[in-house]
Amino acid sequence: MQVIIADSAQEVARLGADQLSSLMRTRPNAVLGLATGNTPIALYAELVRRYRSGNLSFAGARSFNLDEYVGLAPEHPQSYRYFMNQYLFSQIDIALEHTWVPDGMADPQTAGEAYEAQIAAAGGIDLQVLGIGRNGHIGFNEPSSSLGSGTRIKTLAPQTLVDNSRFFGADEFQPSLAITMGIGTILRSRKTLLLATGDAKADAVKAMVEGPVTASCPASALQLHPCAVVIVDRAAGGRLE
Ligand code: F6R
Repeated sequence: MQVIIADSAQEVARLGADQLSSLMRTRPNAVLGLATGNTPIALYAELVRRYRSGNLSFAGARSFNLDEYVGLAPEHPQSYRYFMNQYLFSQIDIALEHTWVPDGMADPQTAGEAYEAQIAAAGGIDLQVLGIGRNGHIGFNEPSSSLGSGTRIKTLAPQTLVDNSRFFGADEFQPSLAITMGIGTILRSRKTLLLATGDAKADAVKAMVEGPVTASCPASALQLHPCAVVIVDRAAGGRLE
């Protein structure tokens, strides 16, 4: 695991964008694994900036997102498909039909396997972008998730529901289930790039990097990946030895 401590959240976004830019230069038809949440917003803004300045193109890329809420249609403003269209896909030259986000309205019995088959048909993921939950989750693989898991339905942990409630109105339905790539899916990608900012993530980052490999901290499974890059700001890396 390569751990890079950046001076600021903005620098995390720039260094993260460097990783994606260099992949797109060497492999214009790369398969990207993408994440939602607060952390990658600055990364996506930086990628959009580079695209607009003519230094980066996603015309040949395909992408697979980590997860989606069960029960939210793609046009729902809190759905992860909506998020991706808003922050990235509508602002760059990727073909929308080459972007996949798990379908929150699909049959839960078959949606996971179907998504795995789509990833395999694309040749697997070259670079998987990740954030980390305060409880150490990656994707929506909450603590106790199997380290070999594939895409499937997961129940969100109470802390994740609280953390994400800020995105939902007081009277709005907040799903408690999500469809998520598994830890096994993430480990099969050829490279992983985890970004974390802010001191609320410091304990999870420490457990991921320095703790034992354990399902209690799903992100610790990245220690097993031969090409895992972690970029954190000083606050998120503040408890590392
Ligand atoms: C999002 C995802 C989650 C987030 C994590 C951190 O697609 O898979 O694992 O990366 O919950 O979220 P933020 O960045 O909002 O702190």
